[in-house]
Amino acid sequence: MSAPAPRPRVRADIDRAFLEDVVAGLSATPKTLPSKYFYDAAGSELFERICELPEYYPTRTERALLQQHADAMADALGPRVLLIEPGAGSGEKTQLLLQALDRPAAYVPVDISGEYLAEVAHGWRSQFPHIEVLPVAADFTQAFSVPRVTATPSRRVVFFPGSTLGNFEPSAARQLLSAFRKLAGEGGRLLLGVDLQKDVSILERAYDDAAGVTAAFNRNLLMRINRELGGRFDLDSFAHVARYDDTHHRIEMHLRSTRDQVVSVAGTAVRFRSGETIHTENSYKYTPESVRALAAAAGWRAQARWLDPDCWFGVFLFAA
Ligand code: AVJ
Repeated sequence: MSAPAPRPRVRADIDRAFLEDVVAGLSATPKTLPSKYFYDAAGSELFERICELPEYYPTRTERALLQQHADAMADALGPRVLLIEPGAGSGEKTQLLLQALDRPAAYVPVDISGEYLAEVAHGWRSQFPHIEVLPVAADFTQAFSVPRVTATPSRRVVFFPGSTLGNFEPSAARQLLSAFRKLAGEGGRLLLGVDLQKDVSILERAYDDAAGVTAAFNRNLLMRINRELGGRFDLDSFAHVARYDDTHHRIEMHLRSTRDQVVSVAGTAVRFRSGETIHTENSYKYTPESVRALAAAAGWRAQARWLDPDCWFGVFLFAA
């Protein structure tokens, strides 16, 4: 008898994990919520708006780096690469790279949402009809396998732009880069976009914009708990806070209770003192040297890097 097929991750599983994480985070001291839950449909839309804000420099700085240096990046990567993108986003940056690559063997976008992938894969195929697109629906922080590719690739290239690495604690970031090293294999490459340390006022403004979009993005987490878990958060009594922690080199986002209150979340009463916060996100900022050291600890050798004139953002190329 053959083994039973793995049970698909259905909606109920996700809800249960969300519920457990929310109850655990709000029962802890200090209170926390995992930043990965920001990205429901409303949150993803708010994030797209953040990327267009004048204060939020990372997206446009990285985009400019790719626009200016895609040919140099493609040269360094060589012909017929298999391009793997964990957590594939809206795809704009990937297009810039794919356009420049010499006869790429295939493009493998990896995303937790199969629905999202199916939607974007269609666009990819019509825009790049000569490139094989093989989407993988998986959580990229867990091991996943790469589908069989028709052409024989010269090497695997892991493309991880957007400073997504910044959301991981340093030890988890190192583990992730080790997993990418394993995924890329011998001769593999890593092309990594990372936000860099800079003036605190620039950093804090990027996470507390004048139009209040980031504040809405942060509060949407409470709205999501209200919607999906029957939470009773009063959004007006939680203030958006973004501050740079100089010791850990990270932007922290919090939601600060503006009064003493008790909030019911899925049958659990959560008590807040006035001024108490829920820590909702860390966004680590690196230096070119700390990126190099982190990647080296994960088995990667520095090959090249591209920085904007202000050194606000870096795209780093590593070899296995
Ligand atoms: C998607 C993790 C790169 O940390 O800058 C933007 C998320 N949070 N504004 C970042 C985010 C608030 C973003 N990353």
